[in-house]
Amino acid sequence: MIVRSLVKKLIHPFLKLGYNLYYLKPRPYRYHDIEVLVHPKVFSPKFTISTKILLDYIDALTLKNISFLELGCGSGIISLLAASKGAMVTASDINNFALEALKKTSQKNNLPLSIVYSDLFDEITQEHFDYIIINPPYYPRKPKNEKEHAWFCGENFEYFYKLFNQLPNYIHKNIVLMILSEDCNISHIKKIASENGLTMRCIFEKTVVKEKNFIFSIEIS
Ligand SMILES: C[S@@+](CC[C@H](N)C(=O)[O-])C[C@H]1O[C@@H](n2cnc3c(N)ncnc32)[C@H](O)[C@@H]1O
Repeated sequence: MIVRSLVKKLIHPFLKLGYNLYYLKPRPYRYHDIEVLVHPKVFSPKFTISTKILLDYIDALTLKNISFLELGCGSGIISLLAASKGAMVTASDINNFALEALKKTSQKNNLPLSIVYSDLFDEITQEHFDYIIINPPYYPRKPKNEKEHAWFCGENFEYFYKLFNQLPNYIHKNIVLMILSEDCNISHIKKIASENGLTMRCIFEKTVVKEKNFIFSIEIS
């Protein structure tokens, strides 16, 4: 474990440089026959693991005519996949670059979405969704710009405090799924959930490049 984190620390600056050079301009990302153009200031599904795990998980679900919210949609590839499977989809984010790009890709792929600017649930007026999907920022640092909101949840996990405070109003008999990696402080995030009367139950686990990723179902305790 110590060796692994040392290796990660050593190669991290080079990976970051390569990533930044690659994303000097918008780049395409494809899942099945859906293609999005990822803006340089938007979370990229290409060099991360979480989006692909969620895509594969969601691809196996029956979604015809169900209502689906992707909270923090980034490139929107998950929302577009859900729409392609017949779901009525709302895609929200606080990153305007993401939302503007998604409006175009939604039209280009002929997959209509309801695209909403919202800080978590602040502007989400619909109260019931059959599925809510969240791939959250989880490193404890204050985000300095729109892109960093994809990674940093605030110095004191503010993102999770607000999320778990709002979420009980949106949990009925529906399914709320959130992906996390072993790289983050899962026990602290679980503690914040439990302070808000919520339980995080692991329903799926996948290891990619020696990093464990978990999909949690979030339920009322
Ligand atoms: C890790 S990225 C995931 C993007 C996308 N769901 C995916 O799986 O590729 C997290 C996303 O959440 C968004 N986000 C962060 N804080 C948010 C907030 N308070 N309200 C809404 N979206 C937020 C970020 O802008 C980013 O697009």
